[in-house]
Amino acid sequence: AEMRAFIEALPKTELHLHIEGTLEPELLFALAQRNKVDLPYASVEALRAAYAFTDLQSFLDLYYAGANVLRTEQDFYDMTMAYIDHARADKVRHAEIFFDPQTHTERGIGIDVVFAGIARALREARDQHGFSSAMIMSFLRHLSEEDAFATLDAALPLRDLYKDLWNGIGLDSSERGNPPEKFARVFARCKELGFHLVAHAGEEGPPEYVLSALDVLKVERIDHGVRSEENPALMQRLIKEQMPLTVCPLSNLKLCVVDDMAEHNIARMLRAGLAVTVNSDDPAYFGGYMNANYLAIASSLALTREELLQLARNGINASFLPATDKARLM
Ligand code: HPA
Ligand code: ZN
Repeated sequence: AEMRAFIEALPKTELHLHIEGTLEPELLFALAQRNKVDLPYASVEALRAAYAFTDLQSFLDLYYAGANVLRTEQDFYDMTMAYIDHARADKVRHAEIFFDPQTHTERGIGIDVVFAGIARALREARDQHGFSSAMIMSFLRHLSEEDAFATLDAALPLRDLYKDLWNGIGLDSSERGNPPEKFARVFARCKELGFHLVAHAGEEGPPEYVLSALDVLKVERIDHGVRSEENPALMQRLIKEQMPLTVCPLSNLKLCVVDDMAEHNIARMLRAGLAVTVNSDDPAYFGGYMNANYLAIASSLALTREELLQLARNGINASFLPATDKARLM
């Protein structure tokens, strides 16, 4: 109980959060009704019951299907505002949010609609509550590099309109068989353009993908990265470079990356000196927002208050905030 109160009071940052993964079944049903989209589930309960995953792909299939109810600027706004309410309740002070335009443009939704809805909610939360945030546009790695370039080209005319929010580029979706090298040129272009760069690596994919995310894509953070532990030389490098890993404990459990939270390596990595952070990934699908993720590891791995505080500090340090803002959050 005391640990719960400590976690609830801890100011947090969230650096690994897919906005499409915050769409709760209740809102998903409401948007389906509003947009007259047929769902293959009879009820909210039936949909929630389908959230039993065996691996990353089994989740992604439902995640992309769920996103089909998002049609209008208001839909993206409503989804983002619902996330902000959860985040603020969990004392998240700053969030760097992934969004996947290709999931929507493939269905005929304009990329301008996606940007506008998400940004309107983030700006409103900043103005009304001082909620700080950024947007990280992510490429779907199961699609081609050409498709990623086309998405970048479609988004760049919006850059000026969203310069207060959009500062990063990410890489997500099906990891195995889609190594970072596939996106070498588009990431090089994004680097020239001055974006911060991150990529999912070492979630289901091997430690070699973490290495190529670092050396080929030149990312500044690794999303997940938990399989790095299989390569001791890589671990030494991650420690030496203090390369942040955005770890997502409940996600790893639900997608069977780990069999049991008591076996999660976040505590070992923290104690070895890695810059690990705690994040919620797709909280509507994985059963918990930030506090739930902290609580799960605190109880299963016997983390001390000092260690929990270190995790929260790592999150502030790993953010793309200017130094003055980081100092204010510490
Ligand atoms: N991994 C890969 N792709 C994703 C994830 C993830 O954790 N969440 C949403 N898309
Ligand atoms: Zn993710």
